[in-house]
Amino acid sequence: MKQPKVMLSIETLQARVRELGEEITRDYAGADDLMVVPILKGSFLFASDLIRCIDLDLSVEFLGLRSYGAGTESSGVVQITYDLTQPVTGRDVLIVEDIVDTGLSMRYLLENLATRHPRSVKLCSLLHKPARSRVKIPIDYLGFTIEDRFVVGYGLDYAEKYRNLPYIGVLEE
Ligand code: IMP
Ligand code: MG
Repeated sequence: MKQPKVMLSIETLQARVRELGEEITRDYAGADDLMVVPILKGSFLFASDLIRCIDLDLSVEFLGLRSYGAGTESSGVVQITYDLTQPVTGRDVLIVEDIVDTGLSMRYLLENLATRHPRSVKLCSLLHKPARSRVKIPIDYLGFTIEDRFVVGYGLDYAEKYRNLPYIGVLEE
């Protein structure tokens, strides 16, 4: 398997994740029952590091999304592959996503969650690729804005591979 070129090193990721955790801790001070919702599969490593930097009482509920499309292109046809096991009604929900690309997956999820009447919903995304944005998605906590390259590692895959790479890398053409 090709060794991807480093875009964001382990050290860079760790430092930013710590900052995001501190910011979230400050913003939700007083909230006693935060529900952190990592989106599977891509955000599982980011979320596991992030929650250890959040100094609040919280619970974790996973939600799986699949966006059908050709190759690396999202189609906007989104499917929930694994749903929350707890009701979100009246809860403060923090979605944890790996990357907002076209924004179509998050638009679908935000609309879906709104019908379940949470108290609040915020989005924390490790990465954002604005060049490919098709719908505007408010990202409350953003790790890094990146250029229009397909990235892998730290949970993100290419055809299910590379999720275990400890850094964010770019596959060279
Ligand atoms: P969107 O619906 O186009 O915003 O796509 C979001 C999903 O596509 C992300 O949650 C990722 O799972 C996947 N994705 C988008 N860009 C990349 C990338 O550069 N590398 C790996 N996965 C990506
Ligand atoms: Mg994803």
